[in-house]
Amino acid sequence: MPIRKLISLKGKSSLVTGAASGIGEATAHRLAEAGSDLYLVDINEEKLHDVKKSLSEIYDVAIEAFKIDLGKKNEVDSLWEELKGREPDILVNNAGIYNFRDFIEVDEPFLRKTLAVNLESIFWMCQHMISSRMDSGGTIINVSSIEAILPFAKGLVHYDISKIGVIGLTRALAREYGRRGFRVNAVVPGGIETPSVEKLKKEAILKLKLDIIKTGSIFKNRLPLGRMGKPDEVARIILVLATDLASYVNGAIIPVDGGFLSS
Ligand code: NAI
Repeated sequence: MPIRKLISLKGKSSLVTGAASGIGEATAHRLAEAGSDLYLVDINEEKLHDVKKSLSEIYDVAIEAFKIDLGKKNEVDSLWEELKGREPDILVNNAGIYNFRDFIEVDEPFLRKTLAVNLESIFWMCQHMISSRMDSGGTIINVSSIEAILPFAKGLVHYDISKIGVIGLTRALAREYGRRGFRVNAVVPGGIETPSVEKLKKEAILKLKLDIIKTGSIFKNRLPLGRMGKPDEVARIILVLATDLASYVNGAIIPVDGGFLSS
């Protein structure tokens, strides 16, 4: 099959969570460029609207936006109710939160929220996707983190357990539903310069959070490529996984980290 056909997503639809910013926004751009219609999901309605507007100005695909708090199961359920009969062919579970807090200071609401947004929402999103497309199959890409494999930054224990859960979920679903036509893979980003990472950096400098500044500097020095990554560099790998270029890739956990996990 020619490469332009392998990479084409014409006639398909993709749902991207966390589409209002960073990796999710970049992913929405690449999927639309490949011809996919889009369902954009985020909790931030204003930014979601802006992203939808700028995508519509560039690409000739159908785009719908949904303001959803993925940490609330009832909102996830309502989303799929709304999508009944037109469920996406491709699901990108990207939304995630990374708030630093000392392990000792983590209380129940904080842990519950991290797990609800970063892990449980992906569990429910995948369950809806698979149950609604049991006869047609589909492609799922989950976003984990290098922190899941190599805990590095201090104050992210809650985050690390949520992201290693994403890897477990990905591999289990890949094994269980491959024969039903599903491919389920995960990307493992690290050191990507997104608005949230930039904000963290600025805050750390302004508030003189020495731990975070020090970790950031050690992190950068260890990066084999010697630089941070761009959201689009993750989006391109998600695109490959979403297309027939990756038709025999299932249950893969793919670092997009400039080589950090090998350093
Ligand atoms: P970001 O903060 O720029 O974007 C995340 C988006 O998710 C935001 O638009 C936010 O509004 C949305 N979101 C947050 N909570 C939500 C909720 N409850 N319901 C719906 N939407 C919600 O983040 P970034 O940096 O683009 O990260 C994307 C994913 O990549 C996250 O899962 C993150 O953990 C992961 N990641 C990022 C790395 C990096 O270096 N930027 C490294 C490793 C993993």
